Amino acid sequence: MSKLIDLTIDGKRITVPEGTLIVDAAKQAGIDIPVFCYHPKLKPAGMCRMCLVEVGRSTFDRATGQPLLQADGKPQVQFGLKLETACTTPVSQGMIVLTTTNKVKAARKDILEFLLTSHPLDCPVCDKGGECPLQNLTLLHGPGESRFLFDEKKHLAKHVPLGELIFLDRERCIQCGRCVRFQSELADDPVIGFSDRGRSFEIVSYSDPGFDSYFSGNTTDICPVGALTTADFRFGARPWELNAAASLCPHCPVGCNITFNVRREAASGGQVVIKRVMPRQNEAVNEIWICDKGRFAYHYTESKERLTAPLVRKNGELTPTSWDEALELAAGRFRSAGENLLILAGGRLPNEDLFNLRRLADGARGAAALYTHMAGGELTTQLGVTAGMDFGQMGKGTAILVVASNLHEEAPIWYLRVKQAAERGATLIVANARPTRLDRYAAHSIRYAYGEEPETLLALTHGGRSANSAPASAASAFHSAAQVVILFGSDGLGLAGSQALARACADLVINLPGSGDINHPSEAAGKVERALIGVWPHANDQGAWELGFHTKSTDETTKDVKKAVKVLYVVAADPFGDDPEEEHPLAAGHPFIVVQDLFLTPTALRADVVLPAQAFTEREGTFTSGERRVQRFYPAVPARPGCRPDYAITAEIGKRMGLSLEGRTPAAVFAQISAEIPAFNKLNYRKLAETAPQWPAIGSSLSRKGLYFSGTGYENKQGLGVQLHLPLSPNPFPLKGEGENIGILGIWGSEAAPNTQNSNFFSPLPSGEGQGVREENLLAVPVTCLYDRGQTVWPSELLRTRGGNRPGKPWVALNPEDAAHLGIQQGQSVKLDFAGSASAIQPAVIANLDKGVPAGVILVPRSFYLGINTPSVVVVQKITKNAG
Ligand code: SF4
Ligand code: SF4
Ligand code: FES
Repeated sequence: MSKLIDLTIDGKRITVPEGTLIVDAAKQAGIDIPVFCYHPKLKPAGMCRMCLVEVGRSTFDRATGQPLLQADGKPQVQFGLKLETACTTPVSQGMIVLTTTNKVKAARKDILEFLLTSHPLDCPVCDKGGECPLQNLTLLHGPGESRFLFDEKKHLAKHVPLGELIFLDRERCIQCGRCVRFQSELADDPVIGFSDRGRSFEIVSYSDPGFDSYFSGNTTDICPVGALTTADFRFGARPWELNAAASLCPHCPVGCNITFNVRREAASGGQVVIKRVMPRQNEAVNEIWICDKGRFAYHYTESKERLTAPLVRKNGELTPTSWDEALELAAGRFRSAGENLLILAGGRLPNEDLFNLRRLADGARGAAALYTHMAGGELTTQLGVTAGMDFGQMGKGTAILVVASNLHEEAPIWYLRVKQAAERGATLIVANARPTRLDRYAAHSIRYAYGEEPETLLALTHGGRSANSAPASAASAFHSAAQVVILFGSDGLGLAGSQALARACADLVINLPGSGDINHPSEAAGKVERALIGVWPHANDQGAWELGFHTKSTDETTKDVKKAVKVLYVVAADPFGDDPEEEHPLAAGHPFIVVQDLFLTPTALRADVVLPAQAFTEREGTFTSGERRVQRFYPAVPARPGCRPDYAITAEIGKRMGLSLEGRTPAAVFAQISAEIPAFNKLNYRKLAETAPQWPAIGSSLSRKGLYFSGTGYENKQGLGVQLHLPLSPNPFPLKGEGENIGILGIWGSEAAPNTQNSNFFSPLPSGEGQGVREENLLAVPVTCLYDRGQTVWPSELLRTRGGNRPGKPWVALNPEDAAHLGIQQGQSVKLDFAGSASAIQPAVIANLDKGVPAGVILVPRSFYLGINTPSVVVVQKITKNAG
């Protein structure tokens, strides 16, 4: 614990840790010192001088080092001749700070008058007006009038696109540098910077495409004026017209807390609509940040393509019908299917919906499975993060291993938080088959060939004694840490590969010194704090695992589908879109298919009944993040007419089958989850809505004062969520040995069964040769990219402009040497011919040449309808120039 310092600010005596800045000490004492350039999440820069205060320090006898005393025995304090910046000055023992003297007030007036000399004062039409720190501080501390004439102002460009997402109004910029510092210090995307000097100073973007960063929207939040605005919100509404609805980002396992700002407007036919998305403060999850996908992808919920009426197939055509007819038809088929009913549930469904689907499957004696390409959740439910573990608190003493994951693409806010933990002193080990953005923060970067993931983990587990090249130093850092976190992903892996990797990660965690009995991996058992985190493809995959979606092996399920499944109930999943084969395994036996979704997906197009579901913006529910935090989201806009929430549709079908399923409210379903699922024991909606004071503090109800953060969306009044506890009962899932279940229904393919004892089942190339270019064959591996063409991204036109260097088009990436060998050039259209797949249905794709791609490998992004989600390893047999 650091040394404590006593000081006095405006007569208030306070004690704070050594090193605290005056501005923060004052905030803790409830005293606001006005700032512009300072931001508690950024390093102080001292650029604007708005925070000037008078500072007095104790004086000391130079000879003895003892404090000099006044006649009355009190310490002698000497004030400096000049004012000091509270944002760069740390506290010292006995310091006296004065923040409201005439000298300070005069300085603030001068600074504000100076800042406004070139400011356009177009508050009436400015997006920031109403929540603008410059506006608010001018009213609080400004001179009231300016001695500068309007004609003397320097006029600069007002609608400058820094990129497709962010616009700059040059004359509103007060040169505080928050945006530039955020991009370089926090996001590590130094793609904007200062250009020129004095009154010609301006912010410019250096990247192509402009402002090329996944975090760019955050700069509009922290800009203390209306200089930076998003293409989405600018001129869209005035802040005081907006209401706030708390929600969660549904796009990745981080579970970022967000606020939807909504208003009723004539332009939308008198409807309440979403005007913008802001981060909502949750220091243990996303702090005050979100990525641009979380900020801009919500438009899919407003798409005109949304389903609004149930459909049933009549005379071969999907035809609109009543809910009654559609539900009756589905229920009748489910009832008669019995054990031949298979439910496929997507990981973007909330807990309540997943729970009802499982109960329906149990009641009908059918099966319910999570539809995903990534396995290992039965291990994260036992070895995952538990209450109190927080990336924000990690530093020295913690070892973090990120394996087979490109966090920057898959879970951007985890990328930020892991990077920051490494900067605070945590030992970061990054193991991947290709370079990723986190490598530059890693104490140890381990490179393996695709398919060698388990061997690499084995080397770490056994202290680097394996034949694999994992450095012994990385292993030793791992084994000596007091806290260990492993994030495993599915870069280049399918279901079996990720299962084997998860097992290997679990072995590593379990074999740490002091980890306890492997069959009792409870939080109480181990001395080392450890956690296994899946970088899942969806927001609530972890929730699905916690709710028991791990009951069947891949082999069993594939057999079922081919032989016995008579009825398929596909909810929030699109297997035919993910794997667009003409002879899709799911179509074998011609099952009756019921699809419940937002859109007429490729799977819905093949269905017999289609049921329109509500979007998450229209209802409430809960997600469980990858860090096992159960969090609530609330309705932001009225439901699209004709749509119903998933949990209620399932309950209604159940009712017609004679089952008793809760469908009145999500809170009532959650009460059942809490009663039946031990990990959720004693949780309820009220608990999930509890909040606690957070630091840095947001300016109470008047966040519009915005002395620290600015913006209206940060306040979290609706709940911080609760992290699940780990099971204390003996481990029901053997972590080693024979006969274990994969426990998942995934994407079909030809992967061999996982076997961590023999990692040879990963044979990257069919002949077993090394990875080199052989004729036109390359090893195609599936990878995840943030902006894909999935149904929850593609409808947002803004994001279509940002998909790689060929926006929105399907792409693949390969090594320049391989490309040269194959005669392929950057940006060329090519066609992939997967072994055994119907090449006629493969679209043309753009070839990107990337030195980071290993030789002999081609990266194929998931969710671009390229059919790569099937097995983890696919051979590309042919690449034809300019095909398609
Ligand atoms: S654009 Fe905004 S955040 Fe960036 S320097 Fe100007 S005022 Fe500051
Ligand atoms: S990091 Fe993930 S949860 Fe957070 S805003 Fe981005 S996509 Fe959403
Ligand atoms: S110099 Fe302190 S806030 Fe800008």
